[in-house]
Amino acid sequence: MKNCLIELQHVTKRYKGYESEVVALDDISLRIFAGEFVAITGPSGSGKSTLLHCMGLLDRPTEGKIIIEGKDTSKITGKDIALLRGKKIGFVFQSYNLIPRLTVMENVILPGLIIGKRREYLEKRARKLLKEVGILHRINHRGAHLSGGEQQRVAIARALINEPIIILADEPTGALDSESSREIMDLLLEMNRNKGVTVVFVSHDPVVARYGRRRLEMKDGAIVEDRKIK
Ligand SMILES: Nc1ncnc2c1ncn2[C@@H]1O[C@H](COP(=O)(O)OP(=O)(O)OP(=O)(O)O)[C@@H](O)[C@H]1O
Ligand SMILES: [Mg+2]
Repeated sequence: MKNCLIELQHVTKRYKGYESEVVALDDISLRIFAGEFVAITGPSGSGKSTLLHCMGLLDRPTEGKIIIEGKDTSKITGKDIALLRGKKIGFVFQSYNLIPRLTVMENVILPGLIIGKRREYLEKRARKLLKEVGILHRINHRGAHLSGGEQQRVAIARALINEPIIILADEPTGALDSESSREIMDLLLEMNRNKGVTVVFVSHDPVVARYGRRRLEMKDGAIVEDRKIK
């Protein structure tokens, strides 16, 4: 059987308000395998971001388990969960989330420094990744001085610095024009095809979602469709 990287077992996420309760995820069971390129679509409020955050250990489910490479994460707490997340998961966000006053190089190596890797090793790896995402010529520029598409390339290099098992991307093209969107999706697909990087991305844009080789559709906190594309 193929290598299962992330498994969700009966994951439910509820947010409690004063009077009402929102069920953001409603008993979701799902497995993501090595090498997949997965699109998550669905209307606003259907739980896409919550699902991605739970998969990536940024948020905890109310019920159910998140299993990363066979390891149940429900008993892991505090610093250990942050360390596991830092080592195993690469995140890409709609708003890039670069630190504006740091250079491209500094932004890319930061997640590596946080988990205690050596600067020399990180800088070498960052250079290689920046070349692969086509932004090496901007290495000493500050994050704030780059275009949206350039910032997202840097964010992809940053997401890969710790050799994660998976990249989770929440609306990675949400702030980009259609030309830059295509370039970013082509880049992610190339990373998937040529380097075997597993990617799960969220997009409400049907053109972007068509990049997915497996397409999950969400509605009211549930996965209502899970389709593999031939
Ligand atoms: N921190 C929170 N506190 C309370 N409710 C929340 C919180 N985060 C999300 N929700 C609710 O959970 C549901 C799912 O939200 P989520 O952000 O996952 O949706 P989404 O599919 O990503 O939507 P969008 O396409 O607008 O980004 C929504 O009803 C939302 O209002
Ligand atoms: Mg969202």
